[in-house]
Amino acid sequence: HDSSPTICALPLKYVSLVTLAVQNAALSIVMHYSRVSTPPHLAYSPAAAVLTNELLKGSISFVIALGRVRDAADTPEIFSPDCWKLSIPAILYVVQNSLQFVAISNLPVASFQVAYQMKILTTAAFSVALLRRKLSSTKWLSLFFLAIGVGIVQIQTAATFSHPAPREVPVGSAHESAPHVHIMSPLKGFGAVTAACFTSGLAGVYFEMVLKNSKADLWVRNVQLSLFSLLPALLPILYAPSLPDSNGFLSDLFRNFGAWAWATVSIQVIGGLVTAVVIKYSDNILKGFATSLSIIISFLASVVLFDFRITPSFIIGASTVLAATWMYNQPAGQEPRVISQVMNG
Ligand code: C5P
Repeated sequence: HDSSPTICALPLKYVSLVTLAVQNAALSIVMHYSRVSTPPHLAYSPAAAVLTNELLKGSISFVIALGRVRDAADTPEIFSPDCWKLSIPAILYVVQNSLQFVAISNLPVASFQVAYQMKILTTAAFSVALLRRKLSSTKWLSLFFLAIGVGIVQIQTAATFSHPAPREVPVGSAHESAPHVHIMSPLKGFGAVTAACFTSGLAGVYFEMVLKNSKADLWVRNVQLSLFSLLPALLPILYAPSLPDSNGFLSDLFRNFGAWAWATVSIQVIGGLVTAVVIKYSDNILKGFATSLSIIISFLASVVLFDFRITPSFIIGASTVLAATWMYNQPAGQEPRVISQVMNG
């Protein structure tokens, strides 16, 4: 049954939430490093990464979809009459995945991660608007605290993580080039991250709506999503000016596409697949809470494993996140009392 599948006796719902949390942390670090570690003339094409991501994700989803229908003696219905519905989240996700590259290349990891927490609020807003989910003022207040709390925790988590990484360049790789200055444009970065928060909320909730309002298989929906992504992902590639020393279409597209670029794309593919599972078996708002809590857990693990020091800002941020989670989960009847308790201290 789709409602409660398990992996090694663990509910898929929780396995996917935890996996997504770990994936989120890894992605921003690897992606940022993949962009800033090389001088501009050795950089890989973000458009190639966005396209590769969709091709891989779509193929994996297709294989899973095929595997699932074999016993039912049927074929997955990829070109179903309502498949066009996926074109909307597909375009939004391609835009979002492209904006993410702009944001991460123009902001320090910490600022990017903090600003990206705004998607907790846009996701809630779109859940209310499109899924008619009812959120009390207590729940809104708790989401607001959640975003602030995660922001406070990440300011220092990211600062601690982002510095050692650049030393770990593979020896002898083409990326280990002469020192260079990576010029960032914070205004451009913040513009991109703000827009990405809106597409994240809208695309996620739209996908949830399509998924939960029909019986079609999750993996079929994912294939449809990837297929509709191909056109918007190809557009910037087809319109790109050709290189003066061109070696043919494919080799131009994948020029400088080294180990860090492949690592970035692989983590994105995993993220895309797990996000779909999370949206199916939980929902977009719960997804925000899971990633927030994991940030605290991974920081505490680093304290034990790597001798990180617990700082006052971590304690303040983590407490805010925990309080927000507790507050969000208060039973409906008790809300007015909880609000007055919070408001009056
Ligand atoms: O940050 P956010 O949760 O909005 O990121 C969602 C990511 O998951 C996007 O990169 C999107 O391309 C991917 N995704 C996917 N397939 C889905 C849902 C999301 O690849 N069904």
